[in-house]
Amino acid sequence: RDEPLVLGIETSCDETGIGVVRGTTLLADAVASSVEEHVRFGGVVPEVASRAHLEAMVPTIRRACADAGIALSDVDAFAVTAGPGLAGALLVGVAAAKALALSLDKPIYGINHLAAHVCVDQLQHGLLPEPTMALLVSGGHSSLLLVPDVTSDVQPLGATIDDAAGEAFDKVARVLGLPFPGGPHIDRAAADGSVVIDFPRGLTSGRDMQRHRFDFSFSGLKTAVARWVEAREASGEPVPVADVAASFQEAVVDVLTRKALLACAENGVEHLVLGGGVAANSRLRVLAQERCDAAGVTLRVPRPALCTDNGAMVAALGSEMVRRGRSPGRFDLPADSSMP
Ligand code: KG4
Ligand code: ZN
Repeated sequence: RDEPLVLGIETSCDETGIGVVRGTTLLADAVASSVEEHVRFGGVVPEVASRAHLEAMVPTIRRACADAGIALSDVDAFAVTAGPGLAGALLVGVAAAKALALSLDKPIYGINHLAAHVCVDQLQHGLLPEPTMALLVSGGHSSLLLVPDVTSDVQPLGATIDDAAGEAFDKVARVLGLPFPGGPHIDRAAADGSVVIDFPRGLTSGRDMQRHRFDFSFSGLKTAVARWVEAREASGEPVPVADVAASFQEAVVDVLTRKALLACAENGVEHLVLGGGVAANSRLRVLAQERCDAAGVTLRVPRPALCTDNGAMVAALGSEMVRRGRSPGRFDLPADSSMP
């Protein structure tokens, strides 16, 4: 009970997330998504997202406080995603957090969205072992991070050189006529299919692998799937959606898990944590577990609601900052859309 109560605000993309955490205990995780408003555009429209954050902010804060059974004045510290993300969307969250912190005279912590995706696992599985390897895969990022200390030392080993993994899921879903966001639909479709098409694994061999050991590339895979589907349609035969989904999904998760385990082996790291919306993928969870077991690496995967963007992850990292005695930010802390 003497651990600090931290309220976290996340608005980097299309989710308005408000989380309340005490220590590593999750008290509330309220999320309002504007995803429905973006469906007809086939992707997130920044201006639409910003306006939706503005409308959802106060009701979502109220809901989180009610769920947690707290008053706003009980909060000991505020944490807010300061970047990376959509500039206008980030600004709404940062402005809200500053207004609350300033009016209640409480500290404010500017949070890196990617580090928060890593730290959220503490709410489910306790303090992260150090060092931990993190594989973050979402609609906006695909990164391998070596994490000696999630509050101050997060080292990027590699990232996508073109599309993010979730983006590839979303684009391939569109090719297959599945709705946006496509990841969950591909996951479901793949459950009824078999891995029968050998799609390319980008940056996994030869010179490409040498130059991009821990980087990813999914745009060639996406194009290969589109070509395969076009050829099938031109032949007049039906497209085997489930098999294409399963084969595409296997190509993505094969590369992700292979490189994550290689990064663990080469850096002597014995713990891997997954994060980001794509970490909800059922095949990724299974294959990662198999390969970790074979390599003697312990795997930590937060439950799906914690993997997608939410406020709890921001509160989790804010809470860890307090626990480690990190200094809070200033009241003029900027939103930084291109934060590394
Ligand atoms: O982390 P997130 O909610 O938002 C950001 O992009 O930051 O991730 C959303 C992404 C979308 O591309 C969505 O298609 C993907 O995560 N996704 C999935 C699954 N659930 C969500 N991809 C594959 N399999 C899933 N089950
Ligand atoms: Zn995210």
